[in-house]
Amino acid sequence: MDALSNRMARLSSVADDKKLMLQEILQPLYLSEETIKRIMDTMEDQMRLATSKDEATRKKSDILMAITHVRCLLDGRENGDFLGLDLGGTNFRVVHVNLKDGVATTNTKYYSLTEEVLSGPCAGVFDFIALSIEDFLKQENLISSEQKLPLGFTFSFPSTQIALNSAILLTWTKSFKCPDGVGQDSVKLLEEAISRKSPNLPVDIVAVMSDTTSTLMAGNYLDKKCRIGVILGTGSNAAFVEHLENIEKYTGDFKEPKQVLVNVEWGCMGDGGCLDFYKTEFEKEVDQYSNHVNSFTFEKSFAGMYLGEFVRLVLVKLTKQGVLFNGQVTEELATRWKFTSGFVTEIDSDKGNDTAKTRQILEKMKLEKLATDEDVAIVREVCDFVVQRASYIVAAALAVLIRHVNLPEVTVAIDGSLYEHHPKFHNYMMELISQLNLHTQVKLILAKDGSGQGAAFAAVAGLRQKEENIVSS
Ligand code: BGC
Repeated sequence: MDALSNRMARLSSVADDKKLMLQEILQPLYLSEETIKRIMDTMEDQMRLATSKDEATRKKSDILMAITHVRCLLDGRENGDFLGLDLGGTNFRVVHVNLKDGVATTNTKYYSLTEEVLSGPCAGVFDFIALSIEDFLKQENLISSEQKLPLGFTFSFPSTQIALNSAILLTWTKSFKCPDGVGQDSVKLLEEAISRKSPNLPVDIVAVMSDTTSTLMAGNYLDKKCRIGVILGTGSNAAFVEHLENIEKYTGDFKEPKQVLVNVEWGCMGDGGCLDFYKTEFEKEVDQYSNHVNSFTFEKSFAGMYLGEFVRLVLVKLTKQGVLFNGQVTEELATRWKFTSGFVTEIDSDKGNDTAKTRQILEKMKLEKLATDEDVAIVREVCDFVVQRASYIVAAALAVLIRHVNLPEVTVAIDGSLYEHHPKFHNYMMELISQLNLHTQVKLILAKDGSGQGAAFAAVAGLRQKEENIVSS
């Protein structure tokens, strides 16, 4: 019996004819061992293409495999004051990290960007950042610092990394809709804003990076075996410590440590069709009505921005076929994006025979009067099944990175609301990883809000690289 039939056998409160229909609708979502292997092979292939020295070959890959120019991890000898910035969502963070023999004391302040700033000219965004740094340095009594404070900047938008402190924006994503900025260097934009708004600010922008890179740096501070950083929130992406000899396009020196952090940008994998083999009608419909059609294909199978909508589409199909809610689709259930990933997390938080949270969500969808005990059981099953599939897909890609790191023990630092709050994502990811027999002992840890602190750590690494004359490009 396959895993899906096993699931059906466990659904004792559901009538046999409904179980059969449910199984038929869920069947295309089932990931066989062969499909998982194909996802891993595709990822490996995409990585190989993206790291080629030949530009035409690189263009055949959907992912970036951006060389971050971060070569060093912290080793516990660090001292001094460093700053980190974290821009990616609507909350922007400034962080002060004081290091004493490698032990960090971190102060953080949050600033909120308004809708107006998010959709206006990008100079507004960078002016806002400059003024926030000024405000924060006053609070920390660092505004009159004689020495410039080394600063790391987490800028979580796909960018072409030119140097440790230079990255060209390829596209805005998430809630950022500035009409300009694409094609420009985010560090220069910030430096210009600082000279406009606060020219005497004592900061030196040493590093710019994605949130995955800074999460990895923060994770490595928590656990020295950490070699991979993953974001599993609204969007998704990963960075890992790659051996230099595996990166054909790498042109820097081969000094110790013979490694560099690589920002995979895996969200766009599949945009050129390489993942069509597992895409279902649900993925296609999520994409069709999303903000960035035909883009972020991989992300759309599991990331927080899309998972709720994915589940909603399955529920609508089941309802239209008479398996759920007596065949009646309420206006709420029919509304796109109304069913959030947070709802999926709530439903999956019900334990055993307790169905209180599921019923609360059904109430929000105005389904409470229609929902029988059988419906509740089916809704729970659908959420659990879609989440297991989502976790397996992301874990398959992660397994390829673990194979590349190629160490007996590897810790993966993960940040993001989906991973943090969903009660089963972690376990399902671990389930697949152990089935894959990777010959590596794998640990997944939460590195909550690590990207501000990690940005400061990347600045520390940047200074060390300068001191030791380690050159990446
Ligand atoms: C962006 C990545 C980012 C990820 C996680 C994606 O949408 O393209 O650059 O790392 O979200 O925030």
